Amino acid sequence: MNKKFVVGNWKMNCTLRQSEKLAKEIFNGLSEAKNGRVEIVVCPPFTSLPIVKSIFNGPKTQVKLGAQNCHFMPCGAYTGEISPKMVADFCQYVILGHSERRKYFKEDTPLVNRKIDATIENGLRPIVCVGEWKKGEGAKGVFHQVKQVVEALTKEKLKKTIFVYEPVWAISAISGGESADPSYANKIIKQIKEILVINIPVLYGGSVDASNISGFIAQEMLDGVLVGGASIKAKEFLRIIEKMEQMYAK
Ligand code: PGA
Repeated sequence: MNKKFVVGNWKMNCTLRQSEKLAKEIFNGLSEAKNGRVEIVVCPPFTSLPIVKSIFNGPKTQVKLGAQNCHFMPCGAYTGEISPKMVADFCQYVILGHSERRKYFKEDTPLVNRKIDATIENGLRPIVCVGEWKKGEGAKGVFHQVKQVVEALTKEKLKKTIFVYEPVWAISAISGGESADPSYANKIIKQIKEILVINIPVLYGGSVDASNISGFIAQEMLDGVLVGGASIKAKEFLRIIEKMEQMYAK
């Protein structure tokens, strides 16, 4: 059976001490994995990766680490950047193409594609975000984004990729917590999977919290969720994990 994913994107939140506190709260609140089907990934800021990794290095190693971005070069004169090779010292995953990177740092799909390729070369799994900007604009642009990624990757590399359908208008920082309708997300993800052809995970992201998680994971096409705001509240994140564990234990 396929793995299901819950990915916590901490964004630009948490100093070292705050990260330590949050990671310890999450670690202490975790129960033993029910059946190993739910992969828990937390993506703290770069500066907190070492401390968070040391906390999750204990016996409950079901929590994996991800970065929120990286460069495509292995090293060199790229001031302020972090290479995939460096990320691989701590992480197994990297979020790429998040709409906040596309919007504020002008990242486009060709750049995202170079990053995807480089992360896979370095043994990491990219978590690639796609999504339309405005509510009601339709998902044509989303399918185009997906096709551009598919065309740029070999089949072997595509197999290692995870997609997230994240309608930008549903991200809590923009929508104030109004998520997309779960059945709408399911419909779009079904169409994304038709483009992908091969069976790789496609998650949903956008204002997921403990109160709406059940509605999302009940959808047939979803392979999990990417959680932003709710992932930096330990209790909330733990409740999301618990509900996923219960759902997928069935
Ligand atoms: P949100 O963020 O859960 O706070 O909407 C998701 C994301 O942007 O990754």
